[in-house]
Amino acid sequence: MRDLGEETLGRGLREWEEAFHYSGGFAWAAEVEGETVGFGVAETHGATESLLLVSDLVDRKFQGRGIGTALVLVRLATQSAAQFNQVGLLATEHSRGFYERLGFRVRDAGAESVELDPFIGLKIYPMVLAFSRDLSDRAWDWLEFHRVHVDLDSFS
Ligand SMILES: CC(C)(COP(=O)(O)OP(=O)(O)OC[C@H]1O[C@@H](n2cnc3c(N)ncnc32)[C@H](O)[C@@H]1OP(=O)(O)O)[C@@H](O)C(=O)NCCC(=O)NCCS
Repeated sequence: MRDLGEETLGRGLREWEEAFHYSGGFAWAAEVEGETVGFGVAETHGATESLLLVSDLVDRKFQGRGIGTALVLVRLATQSAAQFNQVGLLATEHSRGFYERLGFRVRDAGAESVELDPFIGLKIYPMVLAFSRDLSDRAWDWLEFHRVHVDLDSFS
């Protein structure tokens, strides 16, 4: 994980690692031919109705092959819409376009929600997507269509 992060995130690595280690969520790893090439965590916050996606990262050598998409969709496919009605995340100007392709929108676009993080030097965009049973089903359809093997053995 650190190897992936150092190369891809540079000075943002520390915040990313902290978010990963201290998140109370469920982490998914993407493997290609036995090699771990990406991560993504789904955090759930007790009373809230939002599922939070954090720590999305794909090895640069494997980006652009649908792995980031699969990591987002597996977290939607394996969550119950009875529990959440919204999915949220924090994007940067580099990843915002990726999430917009998946239907996420900047929360309160144009308002003061977009902040420049002085430590990592990037703008942070809070993004949201309405979550439903239909969306979860369509996420499964995509994973099946693209023959993504989802290992549910340790998922509870
Ligand atoms: C953002 C990230 C997770 C995307 O992973 P990925 O495996 O490259 O994404 P995918 O291959 O599933 O991309 C799907 C499509 O979105 C496009 N896309 C990927 N990143 C994009 C971006 N930042 N902006 C716009 N489009 C993007 C891809 O070109 C691809 O298009 P295609 O289907 O026409 O070929 C990866 O680039 C990454 O690890 N970035 C560094 C860390 C980061 O920014 N994490 C996000 C939290 S801030």
